[in-house]
Amino acid sequence: MNLNTVRLMVSAVTPAQYPANRLPEIALAGRSNVGKSSLINRLLGRKALARVSASPGKTATINFYDIDGVFNLVDLPGYGFARVSKAEKARWGVMVHTYLSERQNLAQTLQLVDMRHKPSADDIVMFDWIKSNGFAPIVIATKKDKLKPSQREAAVHLIRETLDAEEVIPFSSEKGDGCDEVWEVIRRIVGGETLENSEISLSK
Ligand code: GTP
Ligand code: MG
Repeated sequence: MNLNTVRLMVSAVTPAQYPANRLPEIALAGRSNVGKSSLINRLLGRKALARVSASPGKTATINFYDIDGVFNLVDLPGYGFARVSKAEKARWGVMVHTYLSERQNLAQTLQLVDMRHKPSADDIVMFDWIKSNGFAPIVIATKKDKLKPSQREAAVHLIRETLDAEEVIPFSSEKGDGCDEVWEVIRRIVGGETLENSEISLSK
């Protein structure tokens, strides 16, 4: 696949700022620090396309990436960080809720949860929010490399049970585990043929 033309199109807050293209869109949701930006960088084979933050809450806008002119990947701002004001939390809620409920392009949401922990109350709220907007989110369990192999099966089971999720993909941005599975999901959503022929469609 040709991933030469990957770029950040826009960092948006309001719908008026969303990109005007009609490409299918895949959004990433998850608490702050769960590894959304790291997953984007790993999937696209870029070191620093999406900013990875040591301090949580850095991504406070909705970031739209154009992937080969075939689909948009959307990094939603993270939730669950303690040290922000009530007003900021409310602003976050409006921003994400507006995106999920109004964005016509939205084709699927991937929800990232930390594989080391039981999904939090916030994770459950987010999962239900996404569901109520018409999608059963695909869950990606991040930081797989931080668990021992013997702990992994139980961790996935706990996540599946807690969220009542159909699909849980263990993932490591550090090692690359789960990359193929996530690409498989993306192909399923945007159409494999389109992706494989993206070079051709781009040069038209
Ligand atoms: P916000 O932008 O604040 O919402 O955070 P984020 O979800 O984008 O998380 P980010 O990708 O910035 O990662 C947060 C921290 O977790 C960074 O220090 C990453 O290096 C680390 N991290 C992310 N994914 C993995 C992983 O799979 N394995 C390991 N070991 N560390 C990871
Ligand atoms: Mg981020």
